[in-house]
Amino acid sequence: MSSLKYLLGAAVGLAALAAMSVSALALTVGFSQVGHESDWRTAFTKSMQDEAKAEGIDLKFSDANQKEEDQLKAVRSFIAQKVDAIVIAPIVVTGWDQVLKEAKAANIPVFIVDRDVDTADKSLWVCRIAADFNLEGRLAGAWAMQAMVGRGNLVELVGTVGSAAAEYRRTGFNAVEALFPLVKTVKSQSGDFTTQGGKEVMESFIKATDGLKDVKLVWAHNDNMLLGAIQAMKEAGLHPGKDILTVSVDGVPDIFKAMLAGDANASVELRSDIGPDIFAVVKAYLGGKHDWPKWVVIPSALHTIADAAEVLKKKEGN
Ligand code: AHR
Repeated sequence: MSSLKYLLGAAVGLAALAAMSVSALALTVGFSQVGHESDWRTAFTKSMQDEAKAEGIDLKFSDANQKEEDQLKAVRSFIAQKVDAIVIAPIVVTGWDQVLKEAKAANIPVFIVDRDVDTADKSLWVCRIAADFNLEGRLAGAWAMQAMVGRGNLVELVGTVGSAAAEYRRTGFNAVEALFPLVKTVKSQSGDFTTQGGKEVMESFIKATDGLKDVKLVWAHNDNMLLGAIQAMKEAGLHPGKDILTVSVDGVPDIFKAMLAGDANASVELRSDIGPDIFAVVKAYLGGKHDWPKWVVIPSALHTIADAAEVLKKKEGN
């Protein structure tokens, strides 16, 4: 080989290597997750991890176990690791200003997913990619009011106090309930979005209301709390799905199984397969597309026994 050919060959090789290293210099993204409190959350984590793998993204994952201080620590550690972007699914809406200022000072773009944050300066984060929790509450409320024929008592299982999912769903549901003066929420308590929490709170409701006497419906801010409540009601000899109507949010496989078994009635689906939607925004942003709407909305839909079998089939990939 002449030395010119050799030099050309080497240059082409180097250029190819450089191009490779830009794409293979995988993006590093820090993802601070709420925890693993519900089936929905676990499915969402899997969607993020699967998509990162498929896209060759180096995902630094941190599960905060529903502890706000752990979540702040995780974000600070992503900043120290100089990741390319940070994705946060916030536990609660408050307490974010300082750490987001630190991310901004380090020039690391932050994307809020799932739950919301309340910051004085909205420019501290690029955008939020999430479903409309208020709409979920209104959908659940509209179904509930119709099922109750506009009158009677209901009990409410509230999600994590201070979380956008609990607050916005509750506001949405209450706005619909307010149109029905003969409907009353007689008990309302947080079960922290967990099955165990839902079971314990329902046990206390059962005691306090003489076995849910005069209660027509249970409204749960997520399916897992309702699944726990169903256990409690059955253990108390009650018939959820029949004597006591149910409506919840998430649309996890077990709630459709409960509907098919006649133990539950309706659930508003919160999509958990949103890893691709989230990384599409992160990648496009890092690639130079900065004009994102502040809220990229993920649609939600209500399901009942009418389509439970079909939805479950899809979810289980059959
Ligand atoms: O933020 C979304 C909520 O968080 C889901 O509805 C619930 O299951 C989870 O814990």
